[in-house]
Amino acid sequence: MTRLRPICPRKPWNTTTTSITRHGNNLLKGTEFEGKSLEEIVKGSFGKNAPLFNNAGQHYNHLHFWSWMKPNGGGDKLPGRLEKKITEDLGGLEKFKTDFAAAGVGQFGSGWAWLSVKNGKLEISKTPNGENPLVHGATPILGVDVWEHSYYIDYRNRRPDYLKAFVDHLVNWEYVDQLFSKA
Ligand SMILES: [Fe+2]
Repeated sequence: MTRLRPICPRKPWNTTTTSITRHGNNLLKGTEFEGKSLEEIVKGSFGKNAPLFNNAGQHYNHLHFWSWMKPNGGGDKLPGRLEKKITEDLGGLEKFKTDFAAAGVGQFGSGWAWLSVKNGKLEISKTPNGENPLVHGATPILGVDVWEHSYYIDYRNRRPDYLKAFVDHLVNWEYVDQLFSKA
């Protein structure tokens, strides 16, 4: 994964996800959510069990986040069906990139920016902390971590530069398309 440098988030690569999983499993013990899928835990614990939700949410977000990136990703070569949908619902790829990055820049403090499918339509959104579109009735197909830990080593406080690098050079459009076809 070192090939992703210098534009990929470095610090949280494995350590964050591993500690979230261990801690999350402890929080899960003895709750009504034992044995449920990660998506069910995220949706079910939202607003009810904050420690469990924060862990499960961030676990879900990061699991996908690693697949939402690849070396030499981003750019304009999208699977056709997805590109058509982005044009229909979001006004084209260039506008999508601008609006998606703006959502990330506009998220005050820690959080995520998203591309999701809701009621058959694509939408861009942002969420605070470990929250994600699952809890708002949408299915995320692309997300970017805008917690400061994801970019400060390479970008200091320049979140806009990190987001531009993400859309221009990192997005794994094949994985986005895979989630899109299941959404
Ligand atoms: Fe993160």
